[in-house]
Amino acid sequence: MTEIMPEAPKDCALCPRLRQFILDQREKEPDWFNGAVPSFGDSQAKLLVIGLAPGMTGANRTGRPFTGDWAGDLLYATLGKFGFTRGTYDRRPDDGLELKDAMITNAVRCVPPQNKPIGAEINQCRPFLKARIDALSEVKVLLCLGKISHDSTVRALGLRLKDHPFGHGSEYQVGDMTLLSSYHCSRYNTNTRRLTEEMFENVFARAKALIEA
Ligand code: URA
Repeated sequence: MTEIMPEAPKDCALCPRLRQFILDQREKEPDWFNGAVPSFGDSQAKLLVIGLAPGMTGANRTGRPFTGDWAGDLLYATLGKFGFTRGTYDRRPDDGLELKDAMITNAVRCVPPQNKPIGAEINQCRPFLKARIDALSEVKVLLCLGKISHDSTVRALGLRLKDHPFGHGSEYQVGDMTLLSSYHCSRYNTNTRRLTEEMFENVFARAKALIEA
């Protein structure tokens, strides 16, 4: 059996719709990253933040998860508040920012049309997510942003969705790890105040406490 690597190749072609979407985008914006976005952070991470998929003008443009869009502003600021960053986040992949004890990945590694991957794409990308989790020998907390990320992570761990429903602040013990989830820090969720900064920080405070316990 071939071993699945934690990172998809930049030119991954497993999902025909996403592949075509990226090829079309390369025509329109040849200077953008336009490929499967690799995870970013510390290979000894204790915290793995799992987003949904690259945003078109964020990670798909810059090549670093959550970098250059609204969701990233809140995510990186919050990571900084809880001591998971070194350096200053400046919305560019060459801003020199490093993550300390943390890594950020996405449940789906290629930008989907309208930010909405279809079920087959989420399933196709899951082996990379599973391999990403398996490669982090020190990981204690998996922090899923949004239901798609949560559900795909539950499946990657071989667990039943029925027994592990998503909720903001939901928490499940899985062996040595805790699966923690939050509403996604998207512009829509923060503008509608479904997710406030305080709610997001409370989830990170819990993640930090679990890591330090
Ligand atoms: N950028 C990402 O990389 N992932 C998300 O889920 C949202 C924005």
